[in-house]
Amino acid sequence: MLSFTLLVLAIAPAVIRALDNGLGQTPPMGWNSWNHYTCDINETVILSNAKAMEEAGLLELGYNYIVMDDCWSKRERDPETGEIVPDPEKFPHGIESMIEEIHNMGFKFGMYSSAGKYTCAGYPGSLDHEEIDAKKFADWKIDYLKYDNCFNQGRSGTPLISYKRYEAMSEALNKTGRPIFYALCQWGEDQVWNWASTVANSWRITGDIYDSFNRYDIRCPCETYDCPSLQGYHCSIMNIVNKAAPLVQKTGPNSGWSDMDMLEIGNGGMTYDEYITHFTMWAVLKSPIFLGNDVSNMTPDHLELVSNPDVIAVHQDVSAPANRMWKKPFGDGYVHLFSGSLSNGDWVVAVINEANVPLVEMSILFSDIFIDNRDNTKFVWNIKDLWTKETTTAARHLTADVAPHGTQVWRLQKATHNSYNYYWVGHNPN
Ligand SMILES: *[C@@H]1O[C@H](CO)[C@@H](O)[C@H](O)[C@H]1NC(C)=O
Ligand SMILES: *[C@@H]1O[C@H](CO)[C@@H](O)[C@H](O)[C@H]1NC(C)=O
Repeated sequence: MLSFTLLVLAIAPAVIRALDNGLGQTPPMGWNSWNHYTCDINETVILSNAKAMEEAGLLELGYNYIVMDDCWSKRERDPETGEIVPDPEKFPHGIESMIEEIHNMGFKFGMYSSAGKYTCAGYPGSLDHEEIDAKKFADWKIDYLKYDNCFNQGRSGTPLISYKRYEAMSEALNKTGRPIFYALCQWGEDQVWNWASTVANSWRITGDIYDSFNRYDIRCPCETYDCPSLQGYHCSIMNIVNKAAPLVQKTGPNSGWSDMDMLEIGNGGMTYDEYITHFTMWAVLKSPIFLGNDVSNMTPDHLELVSNPDVIAVHQDVSAPANRMWKKPFGDGYVHLFSGSLSNGDWVVAVINEANVPLVEMSILFSDIFIDNRDNTKFVWNIKDLWTKETTTAARHLTADVAPHGTQVWRLQKATHNSYNYYWVGHNPN
């Protein structure tokens, strides 16, 4: 009887039910117009960034969604049909022709609306117009919908009320018959992580990102995910990492993904090492990764950063995100350890140095990395630093050297058993 109970407990997490639209086995990648252009968009801006993504090799690396954010429509619905109307000045060739061009380049296309009376910038929202809007979006052949939370008419405040508002669009999208990745932008209100997986493919868990490493800002008032206050905006990347860390247990290939918001790499507010932390943690925690900069005007080092195939391979591995094993005071900040298993038996380990001083030769114990898989501590592992590309072997511990505000990340591959001999440290066991 006891063992039967244990068995049931052990398999419970595997039966999480996801939205059944065939999408989102791994978190999506692409580009979104908001962080750089905000409302200043038109067909030239969208198409030139798609072109730049293709020419930079980013499409080939997996960045295959081009998402157009807020401000694409006229201020009023068509009085005759009730439909949302694309702004003809911003899209002189029509929105369908732009989407077709994007498809012809090999991308999928993402659209934006809000589960409110208006979008955040005051354009018509889809609340109580879900079916007519979903049908129009499907006619235009969209592949992704970012669905915001502005002007929701007070229809929030309990999980069930929010759930119903987002479920309405989920059902409307399903009715169109077109598979459309459904991305909630509900800012983490009403414990979205507890209810989104049956209606959506991803869900935002925080207020809007800001291009800063860890600057305090009262407009992002919460320091933790369970704060009952408003979610706000101007959230630094470490604010978002701290909120995401406990919530990724609700995500995975069979449920959906915590969205930590679009990237700021290339927008100029952070150092290179801070952008390394930004990119690494969005990958390791399996957030959707949408570039949010002007791709046609990107420095070579930022382009190289977002093109790291080893980090992208971790992000696109069909597995759950890494977990934070500890967070300890270090220098004038903290050091964080994340570890997670990958689908082929490899592991990924990341160490963030949140302090303003370098972290030098810190031992990261296997007994901390493999808390849930003790047997792994008995092996020698081949390790690869995914930024420096250095490879070596390790037993019992890794050695971390991390620049201020930087992140070191390794992929570990099991080499040989180490039950009676620790002399392999630093040597090739083969
Ligand atoms: C609609 O929902 C049904 C039932 O969950 C599912 O089998 C089907 O694939 C969905 N269709 C689309 C287009 O999402
Ligand atoms: C789109 O905006 C850009 C930059 O503001 C401008 O140069 C371009 O002419 C605009 N294109 C259209 C079609 O309005």
